[in-house]
Amino acid sequence: MDLSNLGTTCVIGLFWGDEGKGKIVDVLTEYADVVVRYNGGANAGHTVVIEGERFALHLLPSGSLHGGKTGVIGPGVALDPAVLLEEIDHLRGRGIDLTDRLKISKRCHVVMPYHKAEDRLNEQVLTGKDKIGTTARGIGPCYADKMQRSSAVRFCDLFNPNEFRERLGRIVRRKQAVFAALYENPEPLDAEAIADQYLRYADQLRNYLCDTTSYLQHCLQHGRKLLFEGAHGTLLDIDHGTYPYVTSSSSSALGVPSGAGVPPSAVQSYVGVVKAYTTRVGQGPFPTELFDENGERIRERGHEYGTTTGRPRRCGWFDAVAGRYSVQMGGIGHVAVMHLDTLSGFDRLSICTAYTVDGKRLDEFPAEVDVLERVKPIYESLPGWSEDLTSVRTFEDLPQAARDYVLRIEELIGATVSIVSVGPERSQTIFRNG
Ligand code: IMP
Repeated sequence: MDLSNLGTTCVIGLFWGDEGKGKIVDVLTEYADVVVRYNGGANAGHTVVIEGERFALHLLPSGSLHGGKTGVIGPGVALDPAVLLEEIDHLRGRGIDLTDRLKISKRCHVVMPYHKAEDRLNEQVLTGKDKIGTTARGIGPCYADKMQRSSAVRFCDLFNPNEFRERLGRIVRRKQAVFAALYENPEPLDAEAIADQYLRYADQLRNYLCDTTSYLQHCLQHGRKLLFEGAHGTLLDIDHGTYPYVTSSSSSALGVPSGAGVPPSAVQSYVGVVKAYTTRVGQGPFPTELFDENGERIRERGHEYGTTTGRPRRCGWFDAVAGRYSVQMGGIGHVAVMHLDTLSGFDRLSICTAYTVDGKRLDEFPAEVDVLERVKPIYESLPGWSEDLTSVRTFEDLPQAARDYVLRIEELIGATVSIVSVGPERSQTIFRNG
């Protein structure tokens, strides 16, 4: 695979997030000038390991770790200034300075303290199937206010202090009334204190404020190469995911133009990222979930614990029905299969090729969440391999069973597997030709 030929590229998760996009973005950043986050907020967690050093980022584009590259936070992002400042400071402490190479869209919506409170309180009062199992980062309530409009705050609003104070006063009065009606003992909200705090954040972030839409237009006109970094995954997309067990942003390939502020034609290649198995955190249907020692073994070998919340991830076999759905929806040309090394040591591996429901075969990923909860996977069993893969560097050097496993995934989801990852390090990446 010739990475330098991909043009303006987007990296997108094809399942429920945590596929390992951070590492692929990191690898592809070398060929890009500008790396753009365009959706979600601090609910995302991207882990990158560089020369043994582990970086966990929530809001900053992973590409920001590379000197000389510009990071952009686009208008579709829910911006939590407290988290962002912490990340900027943390990187500065580790010798990575973002001055002059981070641009934040004036149009971003801002996550406020009452959004986080609402996210948490909501999850406390909801029971059973109504619970979403959110990350409690305030993302859903922030996007809900964006849609509601009169109670939203955008990044540019923080630079108009008088207007912001007045508006925030009105918003906080309404929030307090709603909280008092819905929740037991909600913590009090102090509009003045919140305004002071957010105006201080604005001062610290002033140098990064940018009309990123114009900036990206300018980059495109001058042939600068952009890399779009998707957060979460296609099956968590608000319109196309396993609704209502989804996040609140457009986290499939379809969200790029809108969230970044670029024309659809600007994206030349989509690289979809999957794991060699499937994981999910939070509530929601997961047809191939394993409740036995195989699931436990994948979790332990793959270190499947959330970057953002530390929650153990639910683990299961590879679901090719879901993979095919995401590939087709996103027009995905290249696929990266991550964590192939995690599957070493299983006698046999299973891939879900179709579902059955009510005695009927189902080859398509269903829209109805209750159907997805009832489907039974039809599995194909493949031989496993015992070899450690972590030092393999070419596709041809993988054991035959591992190659066959990857090729079967490729065939079933209908997109070329161009990248295979066999460990967290940048060097543990196999690029496949043809
Ligand atoms: P929210 O995005 O915090 O509202 O959470 C909604 C659902 O999306 C929950 O099931 C979360 O666990 C899940 N979710 C959100 N972001 C991520 C992510 O980056 N990786 C995996 N799951 C996520």
